[in-house]
Amino acid sequence: MFAFSDRIKTLQPSAIREILKFTSYPDVISFAGGNPAPEAFPVDKIKAIMNEIMDKDPITALQYSVSEGYTPLRDWIKGDLNKKGIFNWSRDDLIITAGAQQCMEMTAKVLCNEGETIICEEPSFIGSLNSFRSYNSKLVGVPMDDEGIDPEKLEQALKDNPRTAFIYLIPNFQNPTGRTMSFERRKQVLALAYKYKTHIIEDNPYGDLRFSGDDVPAIRTMDTEGRVIYAGTFSKTVAPGLRVGYMCAEKSIIAKATCALQVSTVHTSILSQMIVHRFVTEYDFNEHLEGLRKIYGHKCDLMLTNLKLKMPQSIKFTEPDGGLFIWGTLPDGDMDYFVKKAIDRKVAIVTGKAFLVDERKPTLSFRLNYSTPTDAQIESGVDTLADVAKSIYKA
Ligand SMILES: Cc1ncc(COP(=O)(O)O)c(C=O)c1O
Repeated sequence: MFAFSDRIKTLQPSAIREILKFTSYPDVISFAGGNPAPEAFPVDKIKAIMNEIMDKDPITALQYSVSEGYTPLRDWIKGDLNKKGIFNWSRDDLIITAGAQQCMEMTAKVLCNEGETIICEEPSFIGSLNSFRSYNSKLVGVPMDDEGIDPEKLEQALKDNPRTAFIYLIPNFQNPTGRTMSFERRKQVLALAYKYKTHIIEDNPYGDLRFSGDDVPAIRTMDTEGRVIYAGTFSKTVAPGLRVGYMCAEKSIIAKATCALQVSTVHTSILSQMIVHRFVTEYDFNEHLEGLRKIYGHKCDLMLTNLKLKMPQSIKFTEPDGGLFIWGTLPDGDMDYFVKKAIDRKVAIVTGKAFLVDERKPTLSFRLNYSTPTDAQIESGVDTLADVAKSIYKA
């Protein structure tokens, strides 16, 4: 009825949000979400911090603030990134955002003209894909293998799309596949970004949630040309409701991102930033992260053990070293039918289609989340999925 803008009229609500509506029914076991575990929230500490802020520094927390972010938090993040080998040359190469999601949206706004290309791993995180879609970019998905995005196909995509604004990557425990990009692959991808003079967004919301294997250096640690834009967040390590993330990039990009943030939200909630800053400095943040790794490592192991034991062998699963997701792949057949059968039996999973650039393409994959269900729900949900699977696949 109304004439919506070109940038928004074809944008659809996320398929996952639609599934999540259904999963709010109490008798449904949901492997469809992507939220942190309820037991992972440091509720008492945040309550104490909020009281302390209101007692000691209420006006700073309630007043307008600067767009670049709360200086003590920016300094803490820079120290944390330095420890991980991500060196910053000045305070001007970091801005605090309302979660990592805003980094994707702002980068598209800052670097991508209408009709220009954004290359991503396929499958990829739907929230970012929708951000890119909202700028009328041309999205090009490049397939992955166990080591990450396929470098030959990436190079072909870069040749085919000379107006590529940037390559969007989630190198650690990727959403939705749970895969981690190998060090070799990270070097290759960076070399391609240099060769074709484009940028990379390195989205790393799960990097601190590694529960097995060794850390792999971030792509940004190797970047000498300032081509990598690094997106971080406290959503998975403190609380997503606080909406605090950050973008670390070459300072001219941050300067433009600051203009973009100023015109949309003025600044990220200063109260949230002060809460995060006090949480990471007044308590033992490493101990907190260790606790999270224990929770997710345990749940991932429980789900994988059950899947391997109960599901037909022909259905394959990734084995993540961190993060929140396992990716399953059927040998053949109809993914929509499998998802529907599971939902009929009150277990919600997400079809792999939701993570594709073109959602009409067929897929045999699906995403499982292990962070939100309880141990008992993981066991009985996998029992049900196995029943459904065995009714379709013999072995
Ligand atoms: C890969 C990826 N990037 C970004 C986000 C968004 O995180 P935030 O809450 O920091 O905006 C998510 C959330 O699930 C994610 O999985």
